[in-house]
Order: sequence, then C-alpha cells, then structure tokens
Amino acid sequence: MQYRYTCDKLSELKDDVIICFTPQIKEITGPYLKSLDAASHGLLATAVGSEEFTGKSGEAISLTCPNDRKTGRLIVAGLGENTKLTADAFRRAMGELSRQKSLSQAGSATIFFGNYSDATFFQAAVEGYLLGSYKQREYKTGDAAQDKSRLSRLRFSVGRPVWVKRARSAVERGVVIAEGQLLVRQLAQTPAGDLTPRLYAEKVQQLARKHRISCKVLDEKAIAQEKMGALMGVAKGSDEPPRFLILEYKGGRGGQKPVVLVGKGVTFDSGGISLKPGQDMHEMKQDMAGSAVVVATIITAARLKLRLNLVGLIPATENMPSGHATRPGDILTSRKGKTIEVINTDAEGRLILADALDYANKYKPQAVIDIATLTGAALYILGYAGAPILGNNDTLLERISVASQATAEKVWRLPIWDEHRDQMKSSIADLVNSGGRPAGTIAAAAFLENFIGEWPWAHIDIAYVDMEPSGKPYTPKGATGFGVRLLTEVLSNWKKL
Ligand code: BES
Ligand code: MN
Ligand code: ZN
Repeated sequence: MQYRYTCDKLSELKDDVIICFTPQIKEITGPYLKSLDAASHGLLATAVGSEEFTGKSGEAISLTCPNDRKTGRLIVAGLGENTKLTADAFRRAMGELSRQKSLSQAGSATIFFGNYSDATFFQAAVEGYLLGSYKQREYKTGDAAQDKSRLSRLRFSVGRPVWVKRARSAVERGVVIAEGQLLVRQLAQTPAGDLTPRLYAEKVQQLARKHRISCKVLDEKAIAQEKMGALMGVAKGSDEPPRFLILEYKGGRGGQKPVVLVGKGVTFDSGGISLKPGQDMHEMKQDMAGSAVVVATIITAARLKLRLNLVGLIPATENMPSGHATRPGDILTSRKGKTIEVINTDAEGRLILADALDYANKYKPQAVIDIATLTGAALYILGYAGAPILGNNDTLLERISVASQATAEKVWRLPIWDEHRDQMKSSIADLVNSGGRPAGTIAAAAFLENFIGEWPWAHIDIAYVDMEPSGKPYTPKGATGFGVRLLTEVLSNWKKL
C-alpha cells in the first residue's frame, strides 16, 4: 500500500473513492456538512432527510457523484455522537469500511479529514483500515487464497497544509503498530502443530534478525541448567521440548535498566492430565498469544525507535497429557526454589510465568509487565470486552489504564488481598498452583506475586480479549492481537517510575 498526503479541497480530489466522516446528525447544517452534501449533489441531504443515514458509529453510506469529476463514489461514514468523539470512532469507521467492495475494488482512495486534525485520528484511521481488512489466507486454497483487494493507494487529505507533516508521521506510526497487531493475530491463529515451541523459537529468531533485535533461545538443556523446574514440569508431558526465548532491544542509554516484558507461550494447552473438555479445545492453540504480544511489541518498539531498553522473556511449551506428564499432586521446585504442589495440571500458565518472572531478576528491571491468556475466570469478570490488570505498583497500573483509554484496548484493575494469597498456600509445599474456583483471575495473580523481585510489576490477563467470537468493526472473528496497541502506548510515553 502506498500512502499519500494532500490538502486539496474536497471539490479538487480525484480518486475513485472519497471517504469522509460525520458525527451523528439529523440535518445538514454548517459549512462542513454542506460541503459534503454539495460533493454528493444533494444525495447526502436526501439520505439524512429520510433517516437512511444518521451518522451513527458503524454506519456508512456510499453515494455516487453524478458529476463530471472522475470520482466514482463518495462514502460518508458515521462517527457517532459528537460529544463522545474519540480516535476509536475513526478506527471503527475505517474498520467497517475496509471490507466494503466499493473501497477494496477501487484502485485508489482518499480519506478526507476536513477539520478533523488530531494526529490520533489519522493514526486510528489507518489502523482501522489495516486491522479491519485482515484475513489469514495461508491455509486456504484456490480462489479463497487470493487477496482480491485492488486498493493500492490511500491518500490522506487534511484541511491545512501545516497538518500534512502531522498526518504523515501519525499514519506511519499507525501502520507500524497495526502491523505489530496483525503479527500477533497471525501467530496466534497458526495451528499448534505448525507452531511447536521449536518452530516458534525459529520463527521469532527470523523476525528478530529482520528487525535487528537480539534473540537468544535456551533449549531444554539450558532450561534444566537454569533450574526452571516449573517450566520443565509443564513441558514434561509433551514429546516436543520447551524453549525459553530472550529478546533484547537497546534503544536507551547504555547503563539504563530495561523494562522487561514477559509473555505466556503455551503453544497448545490441552490441560495436561487434568484434561480440558473437548468442546473449545482447538482454541487453545492461541494460548501463546501473550508471548506473541511481547514479540510484536518489541518489534514495534524497535521500528518506532523508542528510546528505552527492553527485554522480552518467553517460556514456550506445550501442555500435554502422557505417561511422562506431571500428575496432579506432584510437587515442582521452581527456579526461585519455592515448591509448588500441582493441584491442577491445567493451571500451567502461572507455572511457566513463575520461572520467567524469577529470571527477570537478572536484569534488575525498572519494571516488569507480564501478559498472558491466564484464566478462564476472566470471562466472568469483563467478558470479551476488556482485560483485568493486577500488580504491585499504582503508578504503573495507572499508566496502563491511561494507555488503555488512548488505544481503546480496555483494561480494569482488580485487587490482590491477603485472602487471595492464603488461597494459594499449600499444606505440604510452599504453594499450590490452583486455589479453586473463587476469584480465579486474582488467585492466579496472587500466585505470580510470589516470584516478583523488588520491582514494579503489572500483570495483564488477556484470556478472552485475545479472541473475538463474532466480529467487530476492526476485529474480524478470530485472534484479536490485543495488547500491542496498549503496550506500545505505555512504552512510547515511558518515564522512570
Ligand atoms: N489457558 C487457560 C486459560 C484460558 C481458558 C484462556 C479459556 C482462554 C480461554 C489456562 O491455562 C487454564 O486452563 N486455566 C485454568 C486454571 C484453573 C485450572 C485453576 C482455568 O482458568 O480454568
Ligand atoms: Mn491451562
Ligand atoms: Zn493455558
């Protein structure tokens, strides 16, 4: 896709398709709406008059321009209520439009912003287009394997010449971030058989090379030398050996302590001996989504040349049942030395994160953020709508909340109380890996807390936001890639805690 920028007037634009935006309206008033109506030769006013088009979010109307201009279509997209106008309204509008034939069949299109001049609007618009039109085709054959979109040039038309530079940098940023998010979708949707820990490690090494990020891979021997007993306990049941990936991006000054990102990389979670029911088990190929967010965020940070040092830690393993699998009741010794009674082999994510969080101590980090498809209980807290966040540092959690509002990747904080910590104590070992049904999402975080050093820590549970069950404007059914926009925003504004 080529991106172009212009500040030509609406009447001077020449592309096959012109997209413009309106908030919710009942009639054509004011110079802006009047200019859109003039461009459509009154068709917009007719549509608004008959309430065929009202400018609600997600609504769009495609109008022919029956004039001498070469322009074929004027698409007017709704942004919803004016008082609630956010960048996400542009993301949603462009996501919705991205799958419209009139746009995908046009060779070139212009997005006309008029007086909408926020950089975040430009950024969100291109994100929405790229995210909304994403489709994984690698496993299709024949016709369905072809991307039939003809759109090859997208022009951003802004109201004033001085806004062109702002639009260009916002769009470039949006493209990089959306590509990061799409990488997560692609990795998360890849079948587990094609993305075993070994294949995953190779793939990440390739990506790291391409983006000039360092990537070290610990194999099963090195993992044993590190005494990562919790990770090994999960990997034991599988014929596929585990891997531990260490990514490093150095955008900050030499001695500056890194921010460490930790991602759950369970490439397939069958539950192990505590086998999951068959029904949605195929979805558990996505149990490495947190780790994919870590990979994609570090790549995105490198592409955006963020000025900080980052480390990504990824324990990658399958969780499988077999004659050599860890049994319920077995006790594992973690890297930190704490012993863990495995009550339920399906609570494997927290086990592998425990060793990874402890490994983070090596870096004396400024802060550690882990992201994981950790608990099914997250569904009963925020549903598919948002991710629970927990941790030990108000400032860090507040920053994540602020970034959440800016990026429309929603999060909400939960507490960790002594009652929850008590839930994770074992009568014969130091800890249990499952504290039963109550407060499952919090209990998991209370477990992780045992492996945190003296640094600010935040945990993001993406168990259900990592998948979209039906399809949203810029989120087709399938893996969402939730977390890249959020973490990139947090890191872009990073200052010492
Ligand atoms: N990967 C799952 C969590 C999950 C479940 C994510 C459904 C997305 C959809 C995790 O490993 C798991 O199985 N957690 C258990 C823990 C329980 C046994 C304490 C859960 O949440 O049921
Ligand atoms: Mn599990
Ligand atoms: Zn899992």
